[in-house]
Amino acid sequence: QAPQPLDLKAFIREVPDFPKPGILFYDISTLLRNPEAWQIATARLAQEVLRFRPDSLAGIESRGFLSAAPVAQRLGCGFTMLRKPGKLPGETVSLAYGLEYGTDTLQVQADAVRPGERVVILDDLLATGGTLAASVALLRKVGAEVVGAAVMIELSELGGREKVDIPVASLMTY
Ligand code: PRP
Ligand code: MG
Repeated sequence: QAPQPLDLKAFIREVPDFPKPGILFYDISTLLRNPEAWQIATARLAQEVLRFRPDSLAGIESRGFLSAAPVAQRLGCGFTMLRKPGKLPGETVSLAYGLEYGTDTLQVQADAVRPGERVVILDDLLATGGTLAASVALLRKVGAEVVGAAVMIELSELGGREKVDIPVASLMTY
């Protein structure tokens, strides 16, 4: 009998009513604490990302760094930080985007990519897609060719992938 592939969902803790009543939070902490599961998640993510033939990756602060950094190491490419405002030195480019309540902003260094560089965006989770759509727009502002995105978890009912015009790979769908 062949060994079954590891079910990554078994390592995601589902926390009801966090951060607000009625929200079911998919917690990756329990995945990160398990070295075998985290290795496998990173390897599977790297496999998906490789298909987009990226020159470099971009990770979205803060949980996106947890997937972008190990995947970039594995693929032997560099990685750009898309950060919350006021954290990056030098010339930066910003993009504000709407949330359920209020707005948020992401920033990138103006010289983060070469013109036309093929960039893949990494995050931990795709929900409404607002964060990802803003990241695509921000990277385009600095001259990137955004060729895809990859996340560990996708909340498919929220329709996030319809918010972007790039292919999105996900390891776990809820
Ligand atoms: C969470 C998650 C994604 C984003 C997804 O980040 O890590 O980045 O929300 O939501 P969306 O698809 O509806 O935009 P959060 O802003 O909570 O911050 P964090 O990564 O710093 O924890
Ligand atoms: Mg995030």
